[in-house]
Amino acid sequence: MRISVFRDSVNADRVGASILLKEIREKLNPKLGLATGSSPVGIYRQLAELYRRNHFSFKHVSSFNLDEYVGLSEDHPQSYAAFMREHLFQHLDIEPRNIHIPNGIAESAEEECIRYEKLLQEAGPLDIQLLGIGLNGHIGFNEPGKNLSSETHLVTLTEETRRANARWFLLDGQTPRQAITMGVGPIMKAKKVLLIAQGEEKSSIIQEAFLGPITTHCPASLLQLHPNLLVLLDEAAASRLIDDSQPSFRIYVNKRIDFLYEPDLRELVQ
Ligand code: F6R
Repeated sequence: MRISVFRDSVNADRVGASILLKEIREKLNPKLGLATGSSPVGIYRQLAELYRRNHFSFKHVSSFNLDEYVGLSEDHPQSYAAFMREHLFQHLDIEPRNIHIPNGIAESAEEECIRYEKLLQEAGPLDIQLLGIGLNGHIGFNEPGKNLSSETHLVTLTEETRRANARWFLLDGQTPRQAITMGVGPIMKAKKVLLIAQGEEKSSIIQEAFLGPITTHCPASLLQLHPNLLVLLDEAAASRLIDDSQPSFRIYVNKRIDFLYEPDLRELVQ
């Protein structure tokens, strides 16, 4: 596990976009696992900007989104399909047939989970999985609980998640209650995992997920077991990992956490 802390989130976004770009440039048919929500928006903005300036192509890229709300069609402005179009896909030349997002209005959500899971299994391991983290430690919509599911499944969102996501909906009652989410299987099988978080409100869950015990009650803590995990944080999100009053740096060294300030971006884009 490597945790990189940046003075501001723009540099974290630049590094995140550079890492995705590296996959896109080096792989024949890169398979990207993508996330929605506010955390990856800056990375998508940087990617769109890099595309505009350099015209590298996304035609050979396949994308697999983590989740979609049940009951929202791809045209609904708050659907994750619409989010991806607005923040990333409309700015690039990715082929629509290579974009994969669960269908929130499938006649049977259960069958849609089976279809999406089959798609993921046929595609094989994702080259890179981009993640945000919920305030309760969820990744995708794998909510905390006694068990976690490795396969795509229908999930009832916790009240905490609905409250956090209510900001995207005009009226409280409009926040969906259910979602279809990728399970933790493809996330853990991805060749690389890139998790991004910003802001003070994420600092407690970042501490819990990466310095606390590995438990299904904090799904992101499972990522401690991933062999190739990079966590990109701004200083506010990392604030509980750094405690000036204690010689805690040693703990990070023991946990093999490596703090990089302002890394050389050129090295990462090569
Ligand atoms: C989104 C997703 C969620 C979000 C998480 C954080 O596809 O799967 O796990 O990453 O809820 O959301 P933000 O980034 O809005 O704080």
